[in-house]
Amino acid sequence: MTAEPILIVKDLTIDLLTAHTAVRPVDSISYQLRRGETLAIVGESGSGKTVTCFAPLGLMPVGVKADVSGSVLFEGTELVGANEETLRSLRGKSIGFIFQDPMSALNPARRIGHQIAEVAELHLGITPRAAEARALDLIKMVGMSDPNARLKQYPHELSGGLRQRVMIAISIAAEPKLLVADEPTTALDVTVQAQILRLLKEIQARMDMAMVLITHDMGVVAGAADRVLVMYAGRQAEVGPTEKVLVAPRHPYTMGLIDAIPRRDDAIGSRFRGLSGLPPILGAPIKGCAFTPRCRHSVEGCGAQRPPLRTTADPAVMAACPVLNA
Ligand SMILES: Nc1ncnc2c1ncn2[C@@H]1O[C@H](COP(=O)(O)OP(=O)(O)OP(=O)(O)O)[C@@H](O)[C@H]1O
Ligand SMILES: [Mg+2]
Repeated sequence: MTAEPILIVKDLTIDLLTAHTAVRPVDSISYQLRRGETLAIVGESGSGKTVTCFAPLGLMPVGVKADVSGSVLFEGTELVGANEETLRSLRGKSIGFIFQDPMSALNPARRIGHQIAEVAELHLGITPRAAEARALDLIKMVGMSDPNARLKQYPHELSGGLRQRVMIAISIAAEPKLLVADEPTTALDVTVQAQILRLLKEIQARMDMAMVLITHDMGVVAGAADRVLVMYAGRQAEVGPTEKVLVAPRHPYTMGLIDAIPRRDDAIGSRFRGLSGLPPILGAPIKGCAFTPRCRHSVEGCGAQRPPLRTTADPAVMAACPVLNA
């Protein structure tokens, strides 16, 4: 790990405007990432994980306007307010992606060998022939058996786990310095999940690549991340080194997410532990701490003022809960 962070995100705030709605799914997010390091962004569905990572890179669906403020510095280049050309030059090359839905990210009508080679050719400026050889290497690197035959297959011919390996091959084809992996294992069963995570970690170590790993699962965080940023309703609830946050969480939401990790001794049909209730619907402004209605530790006053993210008794961990960190 070098001393200089390659990614510095500061006060990132994002408003999304569609024909019908205006919401703020990302509100004052800050974090840093160094080479070789993994930051997990964790939170329930709708907490703003995907928008946090993809909107600053100009990767929002058609029809959604993202108003991005704050700062996202990638190797010294400011992405907030950057023109499309700058963003395009980084996407897929210096910054690789694994999208949340591998089926929609792959082209169903093209052989996977072509899809991998295309990325290598485009970003590495190599000949089609060299790109084909690179595709074969990548297929091997992601641990697919019978690589020559695999190159000729179409996405629908592959299992979910194999498709995810193809997605990984595409995302690292140009040897990015940063990989953003959005729920890379969510659609897979537990055994395959573990294999894919192990593969990602191996590739990361080999390439000394930084990784932002988006997940809703604290179990994934435990196995794969150096640091964790817990997001709730677009805001940071807690951030710190993974082993510290998992052992001594300092925000009630983090506690709930940890409690929801399935345990080996869970009886079949046992009551779901985790969190009760639902996150707030974005749209109306949130007054005070957004977690208050679901919080077992809330006191009078929690709903009144927005709790700032502050250092806790452990200076390496920041949390936005004055009640547990008085
Ligand atoms: N295409 C869109 N159009 C309108 N609003 C959107 C869109 N995408 C996201 N949002 C808003 O942003 C919020 C956060 O979305 P985001 O996709 O970042 O959540 P997430 O944490 O990645 O959830 P999930 O775990 O389900 O992927 C949503 O709850 C929604 O209000
Ligand atoms: Mg998402």
